[in-house]
Amino acid sequence: MATGSGLRKSLATKFDDELRFFKGWIDKPKAVGAIIPTSSITAKRMASVVNPASGLPVLELGPGTGVVTRAILGRGVAAANVYSVEYSVEFVEHMRRAYPGVNVIQGDAFDLDSTLGETANHKFDCAISAVPLLNFPTVRRVQYINDLLDRLPIGRPVIQITYGPLSPVPARRGEYTVEHFDFVIRNIPPAQLWVYRRLGSA
Ligand SMILES: C[S@@+](CC[C@H](N)C(=O)[O-])C[C@H]1O[C@@H](n2cnc3c(N)ncnc32)[C@H](O)[C@@H]1O
Repeated sequence: MATGSGLRKSLATKFDDELRFFKGWIDKPKAVGAIIPTSSITAKRMASVVNPASGLPVLELGPGTGVVTRAILGRGVAAANVYSVEYSVEFVEHMRRAYPGVNVIQGDAFDLDSTLGETANHKFDCAISAVPLLNFPTVRRVQYINDLLDRLPIGRPVIQITYGPLSPVPARRGEYTVEHFDFVIRNIPPAQLWVYRRLGSA
């Protein structure tokens, strides 16, 4: 149970995260997407797709303040096995301070071959994305999901958060399956979670 000072500290941290988030949102509203950080309930639902027993690293895109990163670590994944790609230098600095040991990589999630550098040929257990996909044209969204799926074993999931009622990428027969994973009302704004998987046998 949180002590009085523990509770004060965690409230202060949360407030700090929200301030950081608002600042990011005011500077670059299209790049940040949401208005306040993801709820811990949503973060845990997203991290529930991780298979800690696979031993493979987890790829996170758009960690922002790190709420989802915390949930991934909470699944028992070692910090050294988490790769978080974040575009905003301010969020990157925050992530490196708040999550020592996590591989926080500054760069564009839409250009992973150069952003991941020597890690670009790694296989990941799954990909967990909070990048504001709806702000991009459909053709780029499809490229993005396909690129993430190419980095996973066949059948393993890419999970994407959005705030719209439809999957941000259409179902494309033969390329990937589209699953409406969850609708989380306890998130501001309420969140939709989508899962994509490559078809075929592992
Ligand atoms: C909706 S916010 C993530 C919220 C996060 N779950 C939280 O609670 O703090 C989207 C994040 O994606 C990052 N982002 C946007 N475009 C990106 C890109 N092309 N590559 C990497 N990160 C990107 C933004 O800087 C922001 O941190």
